[in-house]
Amino acid sequence: MARLDLTARPRRNRKSAAIRDAVRETWLGPEHFVYPLFIHEGGSDIEISAMPGRSRLSPEGLLREVGRAVELDIRSVVLFPAIDEALKSADGRESFNDEGLIPRTIRALKQRWPELVVVTDVALDPYSSEGHDGLVAPDGRVLNDETVEVLVKQALSQARAGADIISPSDMMDGRVLAIREGLDDAGFTEVSILAYTAKYASAFYGPFREALDSAPKHGDKKTYQMDPANVREALREVELDEGEGADMIMVKPAGPYLDVIRAVREATPLPVAAYQVSGEYAMLKAACERGWLDERKAVLESLIAIRRAGADLILSYFAPEAASWLRAGSD
Ligand code: PBG
Repeated sequence: MARLDLTARPRRNRKSAAIRDAVRETWLGPEHFVYPLFIHEGGSDIEISAMPGRSRLSPEGLLREVGRAVELDIRSVVLFPAIDEALKSADGRESFNDEGLIPRTIRALKQRWPELVVVTDVALDPYSSEGHDGLVAPDGRVLNDETVEVLVKQALSQARAGADIISPSDMMDGRVLAIREGLDDAGFTEVSILAYTAKYASAFYGPFREALDSAPKHGDKKTYQMDPANVREALREVELDEGEGADMIMVKPAGPYLDVIRAVREATPLPVAAYQVSGEYAMLKAACERGWLDERKAVLESLIAIRRAGADLILSYFAPEAASWLRAGSD
């Protein structure tokens, strides 16, 4: 067999684990994860059928799960509440009740783990009898400016309870500036804003809406969440959120939107977060449960791809499993 006359043989840089480790461009560690958790008032944990292994957690269940995550060196969590139907209303007022589920949970977590970074979601959908992120007018329109006023109250209630990072996921125009001003005026200049900047109207949120019972009663979210066909629009949102005082920028979903993560990474000096959403978790889980994919390998690959695309932080339901696989070492 004649030797090929090649000057470049890229395989030389892949010839052993030591060399592959030395030239690796991207890495993944527990410091990159934000672990999303579903909570409710109930006395027991309720498994979410479309998200095997994840549950709506009771207060004790939450402490147990956060304890497990902390032991795996996960330092940030984000909380999503499943609210009793009786507390939902058209004006979503439970969203700024200082004695509500979220403020009480923040206080409990900060008391137990003062160093834990507690991220909270700002949007009305868990609290709205309409299932929308904003207030709904009689004709069905989702109102912008009126909603922003309520979101500021919600953010302030979370800040008073001790949230470290406020994360508006509602996609109303101008909410980052309004929340920043509200926080500053109340003395919360150290509370950060992680803006859901490029949040798409995605089918991949289905299992999340099951988890929280928060699907819209009428219509869809296309008048506020972005069209999956667009990327320039994401850059416009980045420019606005930067100007309004966002500390970090989010792209959501993650896996099907790696090009958006890359474009956003190149457009902003701010840290970029990406949310591997409930549907991404469900897809991977389903294939792995059937034995069609190797779970450890497929999940870690999905996460490193999100980092390679340019994300600093990853919100992922796989956070504890990934952290434990990473600790155990690679193949
Ligand atoms: C709602 C919100 C959603 C998610 C996070 N915040 C759902 C939606 O917009 O309908 C989805 C997260 C996931 O699917 O994992 N404000």
